[in-house]
Amino acid sequence: MNGAIFYATRYGSTAQYAEWISEATGISSFDVNRADADPSHYDFVVIGAPVIYHKLAIRNWVRQKMATLKTRPVLFFTVSGAPAGSKLDGWIANSLPGTLIERMHHFALLGRQNPGDLSRFDRMMLIIGGLKNRDRVAGKEELEGFDYMDKASIQPIVKAIQQLQSSDGVRN
Ligand SMILES: Cc1cc2nc3c(=O)[nH]c(=O)nc-3n(C[C@H](O)[C@H](O)[C@H](O)COP(=O)(O)O)c2cc1C
Repeated sequence: MNGAIFYATRYGSTAQYAEWISEATGISSFDVNRADADPSHYDFVVIGAPVIYHKLAIRNWVRQKMATLKTRPVLFFTVSGAPAGSKLDGWIANSLPGTLIERMHHFALLGRQNPGDLSRFDRMMLIIGGLKNRDRVAGKEELEGFDYMDKASIQPIVKAIQQLQSSDGVRN
């Protein structure tokens, strides 16, 4: 089967993961803002999105493409400061249709936040969030930034893509 990666990114780390996954598997990757980002041309779909203010930055695109997504295998990677767990699960539940969550395979990747890259608005919001956050580790990360980018962490996604590539559910 043939697939492609569709991703959204605000500061580049999700795009970097999409590029690494594309290089490792040979499948194309598209920023969802591109006019030709059309998942209906593919047998399976890999979606990548960062968590921004407790929501997935790709939720509108997913809603627009649900007719296509519900008929194909979907692998979904999130990129966030928070690790896999109940907080991340809650943000996913608030961002995506339940019918997609039920059938997709989710992979949680850790991202990067560099205070020097942020827009003034985002910098201000993260300072406020960081000062108010009761989770002191997460609060410190909001204030000071972090870099958890890890190329090796794409391996489970690469493996799942390779399994789909070698399966014979060829679409007409
Ligand atoms: C404005 C902003 C809001 C964020 N909100 C969250 C959040 O609610 N939860 C979280 O775990 N990480 C949050 N992060 C961390 C991002 O998920 C992380 O920086 C990610 O790597 C960004 O992906 P991108 O570089 O593709 O935009 C936030 C980052 C920014 C810049």
